Parts: sequence; C-alpha cells; structure tokens
Amino acid sequence: MAFKLLASFVSILAALQVASGAVTRKVTCADGNVASDAACCALFAVRDDLQQNLFDGGECGEEVHESLRLTFHDAIGISPKIAATGVFGGGGADGSIAIFEDIETNFHANLGVDEIIDEQRPLIQRHNISVADFIQFAGAIGVSNCPGAPRLDVFVGRKDATQPAPDLTVPEPFDNVTHILERFDDAGKFTPAEVVALLVSHTIAAADHVDPTIPGTPFDSTPEEFDTQFFIETLLKGTLFPGTAGNQGEVESPLHGEIRLQSDFELARDARTACEWQSFVNNQAKLQSAFKAAFRKMTVLGSDVRTLTDCSELVPTPPPPASKAHFPAGLSRKDVEQACRFTPFPSLPTDPGPVTSVAPVPPS
Ligand code: HEM
Ligand SMILES: *[C@@H]1O[C@H](CO)[C@@H](O)[C@H](O)[C@H]1NC(C)=O
Ligand SMILES: *[C@@H]1O[C@H](CO)[C@@H](O)[C@H](O)[C@H]1NC(C)=O
Repeated sequence: MAFKLLASFVSILAALQVASGAVTRKVTCADGNVASDAACCALFAVRDDLQQNLFDGGECGEEVHESLRLTFHDAIGISPKIAATGVFGGGGADGSIAIFEDIETNFHANLGVDEIIDEQRPLIQRHNISVADFIQFAGAIGVSNCPGAPRLDVFVGRKDATQPAPDLTVPEPFDNVTHILERFDDAGKFTPAEVVALLVSHTIAAADHVDPTIPGTPFDSTPEEFDTQFFIETLLKGTLFPGTAGNQGEVESPLHGEIRLQSDFELARDARTACEWQSFVNNQAKLQSAFKAAFRKMTVLGSDVRTLTDCSELVPTPPPPASKAHFPAGLSRKDVEQACRFTPFPSLPTDPGPVTSVAPVPPS
C-alpha cells in the first residue's frame, strides 16, 4: 500500500517535471557544470579554452574577427542551385572549410582563412566536438567579447562534412549587388534585409588581403566595438574604384586608414538595400536583434534545426556598447551620400577633436 502510494507520487512528480519543461530538465555534467541538455556539457571546457587560448583572455581582436568570418565562409558553402544540376552543392555549416582546408582555402574568396583554421585546429583536437559545431561556437563566443554585441545563439549536433563545398559559393567584394543577393537567396532564402543584417558583422572587421600593402585595415573606425559606425562610414562620400589592378573590390574611404569593400559600398547605395542599410545608423537595438536572427539562420544552414540542440545558455552576456553613434572628427551630415530616398539620414554629433586616422587592427 505504502509502496503504491509512493509510486504514484513519483509519477506525479515526473509529470510535473515534464510540464514545467526546461527548468527541471537540467543535467549536471561530469565537470560539475549544469546544462539544459547533456549535449551541451562538452562546451564549457571548449568555451574556456577559446577564451584563454584563442581570444587572449576575452578580447574582441583579430582572432575574434577571423573566427566570425570563418562561420560565414563555412556556412555559405551550400547551393541548392548547384545541387539541382546533380553535382554536390555543399553542406552549409558542416566544417568543410577546415576538414577540406587544402581544397577550400584555394578558392579565391577564402584567401586568408587558413590562418584561423590552423589556430582553431588544436582546440578542436583537444575536445569532444565536431568541426562544424566548433566553428559556429567559436564565432558566437568570440562575438560575446565585443562591446555592444548581441548574445548569439549556439546549436550543436551538426554532421561533419564528407565532401568539400564547391567553389564560387562565397561572395567576393567585386561581385555586383544582384549577384550577391542571388547568392544569399540560393544559399538559404535570405532576403535583402537579412543580407544587410548579416553585414553587421563588418562592424568588427579588417582586411589583410584586399590590399596586401596595408594589412589590418578596418572597415570602420571602431573595429573592436560592435556598433553602428560601419553603417555611417560606408555612407560617407567617397570615390568608387572598381577593379583597380591588384586591389579589386577595394573602395577608398574618406577616413585615412580605413578601407571600404566595393560590395559594402554598393549595398549601402543600392535601391534594394539602401534604406535597410541606413536604418541601422544609431539603432543599436536593431543592430543586435537583426544580426542575432540572421546569424541564427546562417549558422544552421544545411541542418534541420529541429535535430540540433540549443546550447545558447553557454554564451556570455556581451559588455554594453562603449561608443555612441557619431560622425568622425571633421565630418558632418553634408559628407553623407544620401542613398535612401524615403528617410532622411539621422542627425548625429561630430566627434570633437582633431581629424585623426584610423589605426590598423594589430596582428596577434
Ligand atoms: C556580400 C557578402 C560579403 C563579402 C563580399 C565579404 C567580403 C569580405 C572581405 C573581402 C573581407 C576582408 C578579408 C581580408 O582581406 O582579410 C571580409 C572580412 C570580414 N568579413 Fe566579410 N564579406 C561578406 C559577408 C560577411 C558575413 C555575412 C560575415 C559574417 C556573418 C562576414 C564577416 C567578416 C568578418 C568578421 C571580417 C573581418 C575578418 C578580420 O578582420 O580578420 N562577412 N569580408
Ligand atoms: C562526446 O560527445 C557525444 C555527443 O554529445 C557524446 O555522445 C559522447 O558520449 C561524448 N564522448 C565523450 C568521451 O565524452
Ligand atoms: C552582375 O554579375 C553577374 C555575374 O558576374 C553578371 O552576369 C551580370 O551581368 C552583372 N550585372 C550587372 C548589372 O553588372
């Protein structure tokens, strides 16, 4: 009798636990950490290793920028259009860029990504994690070091690639807007607005290879801040030099020490994307929410998200924004090339002080 009562009490308890969901499904991992799912347990040690040994103790520096770029170059390697011709069209975020490094880093668009692949490799080998999951996880953890960033989502359970992605799936800075929008549509039905949202990533970015004579040249004046300066500075008046010998895809910036990609320059001005581009200026909340959503979509390309496990709880809360939207010293609204026909450019303060040049991102 007493046993029967106890048994029914236990089953009521179990039913209550199911009803209350995630809160009661917590598991204690072998290392003492508590996770929502056992599949997330391995990530605690990976996160610590990344922060200590790849991101220099939690910086938003070159390795973070390169790790974020790598999430894209792996994930965008998928093309239903190529697959429809009977040729393997790539598996999306499947680790192929690192697993088939010898092949994919020879694709022109992947120039320079071998550096971060080689830096990440020993960490992958030290842990129980797939290459595909690691690449996306490293990007999300890295971005959490950048002031103003959103807390990105993390999933695990992707299958590692058994074949390389085909060439020409990664957009190039000299591709025209139509071609770029078509590529994103093919890869994952990204809308033009989602393409602009993904380019928020260029707020923490620099180029080493677009103009090899000036390595580490940033895309905005604050490459360590996840802020809206990129959207302001790409809209400043400047000259377009498509296809200059040796520097294809490079556009001059009115700020000394800054580089602009021809693709960013054109997306900022194209009728299909200009208003969306301008809408990020001085809108930190939108910058965060739109990038978070677009990154989440990108990061699961090639997988059915329902087969993956959400381990977003592992991602630290990023530091708050450390800068306010502004015109760089010496510049004002008259220097803006107004491209959105429907909304005036927001009014912004001008940075006080003398006109300075933008410092390169130091190599580490
Ligand atoms: C139209 C699409 C895109 C084009 C044409 C493009 C092109 C480029 C180029 C040429 C560079 C400079 C590489 C170098 O010379 O070192 C770069 C850097 C970068 N890109 Fe993109 N990109 C695009 C979209 C994206 C997306 C969607 C992401 C991430 C979600 C991303 C993240 C980055 C980051 C973080 C860097 C900086 C890397 C560093 O500082 O080391 N890009 N991109
Ligand atoms: C490695 O991770 C997988 C997937 O989460 C898990 O099934 C397996 O038990 C883990 N192996 C070790 C040695 O921890
Ligand atoms: C855009 O690029 C594609 C692919 O290179 C090309 O076929 C097309 O003609 C270009 N369109 C324009 C308007 O330049």
